[in-house]
Amino acid sequence: MPATLPQTDEEAAAELEALAAEIARHNRLYHTDDAPEISDAAYDALVRRNLAIETAFPSLVRPDSPSVQVGAAPAAHLAKVAHARPMLSLDNAFSDEEVAEFVGRIRRFLSLGADEPVALTAEPKIDGLSCSLRYENRRLVQALTRGDGAVGEDVTANVLTIADIPRTLPAAAPDIFEVRGEVYMEKAAFADLNARLLAEAEAAGDPTKARRFANPRNAAAGSLRQKDAKVTESRPLRFLAHGWGETSALPADTQAGVVATLVDWGFPVADAFARCETTEAALAAYRAIEAARADLPFDIDGVVYKVDRLDWQARLGTIGRAPRWGLAHKFPAERAQTTLNAIDIQVGRTGKLTPVARLEPVTVGGVVVTNATLHNADEIARLGVRPGDRVVLQRAGDVIPQIVENLTRDEDRAAFAFPTHCPECGSEAVREEGEVDIRCTGGLICPAQRIERLKHFVSRGALDIEGLGEKTIEQFVALGWLKEPADIFRLKDHREAMLGLEGWKAKSVDNLLDAVEAKRAPDAARLLFGLGIRHIGAVTARDLLKHYTTLPALRELGEALIALRDATQPALGEDSTKHSVRLDKAIAERIGVAQAGAAVGHALADFFHEPHNVEAWDDLLREVSPPDYVVAARASEVSGKTVVFTGTLETMSRDEAKAQAETLGARVSGSVSAKTDLVVAGPGAGSKIKKAGELGIRVVDEAGWQAIVAAAG
Ligand code: IVH
Repeated sequence: MPATLPQTDEEAAAELEALAAEIARHNRLYHTDDAPEISDAAYDALVRRNLAIETAFPSLVRPDSPSVQVGAAPAAHLAKVAHARPMLSLDNAFSDEEVAEFVGRIRRFLSLGADEPVALTAEPKIDGLSCSLRYENRRLVQALTRGDGAVGEDVTANVLTIADIPRTLPAAAPDIFEVRGEVYMEKAAFADLNARLLAEAEAAGDPTKARRFANPRNAAAGSLRQKDAKVTESRPLRFLAHGWGETSALPADTQAGVVATLVDWGFPVADAFARCETTEAALAAYRAIEAARADLPFDIDGVVYKVDRLDWQARLGTIGRAPRWGLAHKFPAERAQTTLNAIDIQVGRTGKLTPVARLEPVTVGGVVVTNATLHNADEIARLGVRPGDRVVLQRAGDVIPQIVENLTRDEDRAAFAFPTHCPECGSEAVREEGEVDIRCTGGLICPAQRIERLKHFVSRGALDIEGLGEKTIEQFVALGWLKEPADIFRLKDHREAMLGLEGWKAKSVDNLLDAVEAKRAPDAARLLFGLGIRHIGAVTARDLLKHYTTLPALRELGEALIALRDATQPALGEDSTKHSVRLDKAIAERIGVAQAGAAVGHALADFFHEPHNVEAWDDLLREVSPPDYVVAARASEVSGKTVVFTGTLETMSRDEAKAQAETLGARVSGSVSAKTDLVVAGPGAGSKIKKAGELGIRVVDEAGWQAIVAAAG
């Protein structure tokens, strides 16, 4: 994010628009989906940037600005109810100075003398979700979430399952009273809940489907916003009161006084609640709460200050989405220094290589951290980190720890060399142009990708082998029976052992083995697609085979492309962009299939460049024999033959001519060789006609070609 402010109205408007959209998206992820993508600190930075630009360009404040919106829209399954009083938000402060400015603003607004004390309350800012509990005639009648601040979601039935929340108020309480506070889950209960969800999923047979929560706040939100109150009841939710909404009368004239009454009425209030006569005392309370943070049973992310006198609160009122009388003093994202011991490379199920920092264990915010993600090679380069370096680690809220700074400045040491080969299978790892990720090219044999690849190989669009589902594949891989596609065709060797497996009977074993045998002569395009070569989807596989007919012909193409890449070196003085454009063009031309571009060519070359893949390919083709791929072609004298077009065609384009040949079941090639059956030559054709003559190949002109097409009817 740029640190300086935009210079022009246009720049400012554009950035405000982008910020409004981005902040709205994060609001939705956080409030509606319970699945935040960024840390609170990163979110706060966006909000502050928005505010800074709006302050400099006040005329550009948007109607949908995050500074005038609160939270996100309510969820669909819960009834929406308007709040009697809006549920507001709080402005944030990150330093003692900002707290002093807050008090200074209050003094000015109320025209207070310099000596007049401004008493504040200080209490922990609980990381839960706010809830408004409406009591009418001292009975709890409705509970609403904040929603977008104006309209909340009705969670009354769910709230009634929370033991901390009184159902009734004492006789002395006013007729209408809305208690507001935070629904949260204790850290220990959150850990237990996640363990329970995992155990349940395991018992149901699929631990990968366990719905676990990222942090206690999401667990509380997910548990409170259930359709079925029984589910909420099984979740250990708690409540802490910190304020009120609509009231027919107030039992005291200070914040601390009303809070004391809430305690009398049976509401839990944070232990650390304090009334502070001065700003210094409030800051001392902040530090005491920060020191106690790790020992609290629940997550907090700051301290909330409120002006104690309620008559002053009323005069101060609100500005935008927040009251002038309240402030959230946030804790800084927690940081620690440690040593980066090693950078390990993990290979994902799809072949992506992800660097992981192995750290000297260090405590950050009460959690011992030993690993941090480094995302990708660019991030390693940006930080300039190498094993042995001292680094600064940051853990913000619930996000994965990040390395934010490298403290070792030793320019002489070599930069970390990202591996050129996959640590799992030794295959080459490549980075495609314009991509940040580096991928293993050994898809067929890489253990990290094995299950994913085999699943794809037997899937509907590929070989479509019935009875070989994900669980069976996982089991057979674990038994060492399946490593690569060819092994599927050798499963019959394990028939006896299979019969001994739980859940397998002679019938199911034979059904599976029959289903495998039925695919000994598979469709070549499905087989090619099943290999999972990057950029070769079902359609591209068919397009390639329409043109090349057999898998060996495609392998020849792959090898030719490797040679072409090796031969096409940058010319003297040619920059890398120009070179890659030239190479891509040559590759696309060499493939000669309009629908398959350079990306397909590079993927084929990468695939065949990897000896492991070639072995797995050969092994597979020893097990299966796909017939030549012939598209329901019109019978023609050129069906199955190889045709070369040369010279200028006058009545049609080269592409149209090729398409005609392909629908007749012919293969189109760019060069004349012993394998060529027919050359179609237009004006200007030169060396190719000569070569055809030498090889005794039939040559026709364009009219001759049209006659062949017409004869096919
Ligand atoms: S007072 C006018 N006190 O923080 C807003 N809020 O950022 C009054 N929160 O929506 C809020 N602990 O959900 C207050 N002790 C506390 C709080 C607290 C957590 C949440 C609350 C509010 C948000 C504002």
